[in-house]
Amino acid sequence: MQENVKRKLKGANPVHDALADDIAARGPLTVAEYMARAVSAYYETQEPFGAKGDFTTAPEISQMFGEMIGAWLVDMWMQMGRPENVKLVELGPGRGTLAADVMRTVSSWPDFKNALTLHLVETSPRLRELQAAALKDYPATWHENFSEVPEGVCFVVANEFFDALPIHQLKKTKDGWRERRVDYDAEHDAFFFTTAPLEFTLDGMMPEDFLNAPEGSVFEISPPSLEIVKQVSERIARNDPDAQGAGGGAALFLDYGHAEAGLGDTLQAVSRHEYADVLEEPGLRDITAHVDFGTLKAVAAQHAAVAGPVTQGSFLIGLGIEARAQKLCENATEKQREDIMTALCRLVAPKEMGRLFKVLALTPRKARIHPAGFALAEGDAHEVSDD
Ligand SMILES: C[S@@+](CC[C@H](N)C(=O)[O-])C[C@H]1O[C@@H](n2cnc3c(N)ncnc32)[C@H](O)[C@@H]1O
Repeated sequence: MQENVKRKLKGANPVHDALADDIAARGPLTVAEYMARAVSAYYETQEPFGAKGDFTTAPEISQMFGEMIGAWLVDMWMQMGRPENVKLVELGPGRGTLAADVMRTVSSWPDFKNALTLHLVETSPRLRELQAAALKDYPATWHENFSEVPEGVCFVVANEFFDALPIHQLKKTKDGWRERRVDYDAEHDAFFFTTAPLEFTLDGMMPEDFLNAPEGSVFEISPPSLEIVKQVSERIARNDPDAQGAGGGAALFLDYGHAEAGLGDTLQAVSRHEYADVLEEPGLRDITAHVDFGTLKAVAAQHAAVAGPVTQGSFLIGLGIEARAQKLCENATEKQREDIMTALCRLVAPKEMGRLFKVLALTPRKARIHPAGFALAEGDAHEVSDD
């Protein structure tokens, strides 16, 4: 019976089969390798976004999200003395909705728009095509990674990008910290978690407080995320107006996650807007992990000034999203008004995306820039109602 089940499933999910074959050949994979391969296949073959997909991101909820980010970028550009050549870089642009809303918004400031060239960092060929269609009015260049973006002043935006990057999971066992790995049980045709000795030292990787954490604790780290934040912050530092006479650079990272480094297993899968098992159907489900904003901030602060993390609700309200919603409602039908206010609530209310999602901004250290939307940070003075 088991053999029949296996035969029926063999070939139904090539990612599952390839991972199972690799584990049989090489032994259990790190969580990072399992996640990287599952996520890459997922974005290449599935249609994740929207009501008919697996999840809905903020720009897909409402144009207001991209409009607020467009306005934030215009303010950054003005504070930086209106540099003439700015690369607007989006990391992981999905369907291109955010970039399209940003470009439409900044068209009201022609000098800024004319100073911009658009650079999209996207690994999925399928999504690159969707992005090209969404951005057909704006010439763009695609890159495999941020380091390919030519030198110069960059404004970098990343929404729900870091949560898709691979994490390693370390687990405290009776034998100390070990790496969590994914193994495969051929008899039951199922993946399962196991642990293996660390192949690297913990020095500098884990906050000292965590070294003696109780058995069962899980610590997560995303080396690709830290590397990208390092590259972006170094780029901002290289173009600091004080160092170069003119210029600057900025980054805005929005994602769900925690404000400080913590312990806990946050690896999760989502399918059709419901949580699912991360070890089932790799490549067919979205797999993410919470973003550790505390560690991203510490890495960025070595080179750039950092604001936040603040909650997405506080950030968007600080930028005036409520006034924008009211304005859109003025010329709307009753149904449209209802939709606008529902979208506003989803973006800012604490029980929706308003609290779990955080925002971090990077600016040049010497330029003394004050990024908009971060003034309400302390204690979320302007708490948003869930109603
Ligand atoms: C959750 S989607 C976010 C989409 C979009 N930012 C939005 O808010 O709708 C993640 C995006 O990151 C891209 N991505 C995932 N891993 C990547 C990597 N290592 N390098 C570049 N892009 C990646 C995916 O293909 C996808 O476009």
